[in-house]
Amino acid sequence: MARAAPHHDVDLPDDHPGVSDAAYRARRGAIAAVGDAYRSGDPIPDVEYTPEEDAVWRTVAHELAAKHRTYACRAYRDGAAALTLPSERVPQLREVDERVHALTGFHIEPVPGLVPTRMFYGSLARRTFLSTQYIRHHSVPLYTPEPDIVHEIIGHANMLAGPALADLYEEAGKASARATTEAGLAFFSKVFWFTLEFGVLWEDGELRAYGAGLLSSYGEIEAFRDAEVRPWDLVAMGTLDYDITHYQPVLFAAASFPRMVDDLTAFFAGYDDDTPARLGARPPA
Ligand SMILES: [Fe+2]
Repeated sequence: MARAAPHHDVDLPDDHPGVSDAAYRARRGAIAAVGDAYRSGDPIPDVEYTPEEDAVWRTVAHELAAKHRTYACRAYRDGAAALTLPSERVPQLREVDERVHALTGFHIEPVPGLVPTRMFYGSLARRTFLSTQYIRHHSVPLYTPEPDIVHEIIGHANMLAGPALADLYEEAGKASARATTEAGLAFFSKVFWFTLEFGVLWEDGELRAYGAGLLSSYGEIEAFRDAEVRPWDLVAMGTLDYDITHYQPVLFAAASFPRMVDDLTAFFAGYDDDTPARLGARPPA
């Protein structure tokens, strides 16, 4: 019999939907222990998801797939079609990793929860995406206050299944490593937020999402067309403050998918601590 890794119930913030559910907190602890014990290069151990957890995945996957037909950019839909993740149960990171790696050479590795900023971005430079494995609370299947496996896999892994996007993520990782100051990393992180997490672009006369945060959010993927949509502006993206607890009131639209890839690749490829000043951004007060 395999020896179970020791684990502790997870502490959740007071407003988390699972905070008063002891069984959920224990599950979170058990799933986090898998990510905690994982070492890069090891085979990824499976998590035995409960029927309740599979049901959450099923609900969200079906609802989001319907939205993606209208609101997701073509590259995302192509990536999702190539990856063909199960929609009836929570996919194992092991199988997502195998499939993404076969398509674009990107790896997925489990982590217990939010990891330090530099570690998360830094892993992208070695074509590795650090992913949580737990799933949101079943009482609100279409909402999560934190990145869960739905966000990581439906939002990011489908993107990483496309070669152009996978290269872009790697370039972002390399850029983060050249940001040595806090200010340099902050500007980079904000551009990442307003592009690869919450970016939109024009395609066939429609505004469509390529950001993983939008693509994995049942409510926001429809609401984004009501946001204030500004034209592509790296200085504005890199200096605008954002609040992760609400729908984003301001989004930035690329003129097209190829323009987004070209402009963002050039930005990441040339990024260092002096980039914000070179672009004309005023230093933070
Ligand atoms: Fe994300």
